[in-house]
Amino acid sequence: MTESPTPATSDAVPGPGPETGGNLGFGVDVGGSGTKGGIVDLDTGQLVGERFKVLTPQPASPDAVAGAVAEVVAHFDWQGPVGVTLPGVVTDGVMRTAANIDKAWIGTDVYDLFSKHLGGREVAALNDADAAGLAEDRFGAGKDVSGVVMLLTFGTGIGSALMVDGTLVPNTELGHMIVGHKEAEHQASSKVKEDNDWSYEKWAGKVSDVLVAYENLFWPNLFIAGGGISRKAHKWVPLLTNRTPVVPATLRNTAGIVGAAMAVAD
Ligand code: BGC
Repeated sequence: MTESPTPATSDAVPGPGPETGGNLGFGVDVGGSGTKGGIVDLDTGQLVGERFKVLTPQPASPDAVAGAVAEVVAHFDWQGPVGVTLPGVVTDGVMRTAANIDKAWIGTDVYDLFSKHLGGREVAALNDADAAGLAEDRFGAGKDVSGVVMLLTFGTGIGSALMVDGTLVPNTELGHMIVGHKEAEHQASSKVKEDNDWSYEKWAGKVSDVLVAYENLFWPNLFIAGGGISRKAHKWVPLLTNRTPVVPATLRNTAGIVGAAMAVAD
């Protein structure tokens, strides 16, 4: 069951005003601990009003999570299409992997699932890092950068999004690439840092190894670092030793919501 909804306030922005155009969308970002959503101005990439968050149910089974998504949508009385992010590979409307969420997601038809919980409306579902990548590339840290941009989210796992001049190559899943002898996310996620109580210096060494492996294969023009730990970017980005510039994500905890809304609008 979802717990009592707790409205988030940290990223609150003013409600709809005369400056808000009519080009609105709705996105929900399903995270390990919170399921957050909001109305998005698709022309500016800003939230219209406050974000709303409920705790992600545990276990995070498909039906329980879809119930939480419906609760977020109902809070806004939003009737239009809804974009949803998920922490796994989504192809042809089916979730294919579930590294850090309930394994029952594997093989789930996500359009059926969400439209069942959302009154049959139009739904788009996409990978969480892909959503953040779309949003950062259009409205955030990547907006003036052409060529290949790679966004990485550092959290429980490592999510990746690869954009080429604004076009997303979906489901790159680079967090599972073997770097040295281990999957990248098993050596350089922020969870690994926390679990081992590593200093930023120690962790930045692991992140650098991963970034070097990625840049040697993809040659991006820019890395964008996302996930909660990107808020402390000043503590670790200067310690990185890879060659490609790394900048923190700028949309912070709204990137997934904005990217989900962009995906359903597109
Ligand atoms: C998953 C990705 C996801 C990332 C961040 C990885 O374990 O495989 O699909 O984007 O975690 O949530």
